[in-house]
Amino acid sequence: MLVIQNLSQLRQYREQKGSIALVPTLGNLHEGHLSLVRHALNEGERVLVSIFVNPLQFGAGEDFERYPRTLEADFAKLESIGTDAVFTPDLSMLYPFRQTVLIRPSDLASDLCGVTRPGHFAGVATVVLKLFNLARPEVALFGKKDYQQLFIIQEMVEQLNVPVRIVGIETVRDLDGLALSSRNSYLSVSERAEAPMLYATLQDVVQKISSGKDGYEMLCEAATRKMRDKGWQVEYVTVRDSDTLQLPEQGCNRLVILAAVWIGKTRLIDNIEFICD
Ligand code: PAJ
Repeated sequence: MLVIQNLSQLRQYREQKGSIALVPTLGNLHEGHLSLVRHALNEGERVLVSIFVNPLQFGAGEDFERYPRTLEADFAKLESIGTDAVFTPDLSMLYPFRQTVLIRPSDLASDLCGVTRPGHFAGVATVVLKLFNLARPEVALFGKKDYQQLFIIQEMVEQLNVPVRIVGIETVRDLDGLALSSRNSYLSVSERAEAPMLYATLQDVVQKISSGKDGYEMLCEAATRKMRDKGWQVEYVTVRDSDTLQLPEQGCNRLVILAAVWIGKTRLIDNIEFICD
């Protein structure tokens, strides 16, 4: 596996033959990331994974400094599943100047996770566009675990005519239902034991809606109360139109339930897409 550490090596790699499927990551790779890579192997002739903890998407007081950095272990995992190349730029390579030019995503970026993470999606969109411009992939893969992120990147690509095809990949979960996330490693043993309740609670709402209950708002409020009773802090639980991420209009049946909660000092997000006939 080729390890690309600077922009001239990346240029050389780019100029070789074969379409590129890019998988952008922050590193500390788990089976969720590896699932993206495995899908990427079918999407492009070459698979390039980027590992970069992007300061632009972390707010003041967030976990930029303590975000787990595990490059050697990441390389071993990527190598074992047939990744062609990994790009590990350092800060000065992606941000040689103070980044004064930013992508401003649509208003959706200040909804849901954007309410408590202002500027987060601008930081994500900016680094992703940089990676696209540098690597010029034909296709790029993102997880549905970060549903709002996938949506915002899709919007950016469409509205800025970026010539990259975006592919969304299903969330990979632990056996008990907890969505895999690098941040799960922040959970204490007892917090980890109760964390699957997030997915279970969302499943419960989906099941109620699917069996004919309406009043999404009340169902989400009940779910919120249930999780607060556990001592969790709930940022949001909401049902949205999965095509627009807006509140569903009458008759809309393509839905997604999304949530963000704090278990102690750890912020977790999850979602379930579903169709309700
Ligand atoms: P990171 O959190 O490392 O995630 C990298 C990619 O893996 C994202 O597309 C994310 O949605 C996907 N992913 C994470 N957990 C997953 C799971 N359990 N199942 C399926 N896919 C999963 O998201 C980022 O990094 C950054 O914001 C980035 C896009 C790299 C920009 O800096």
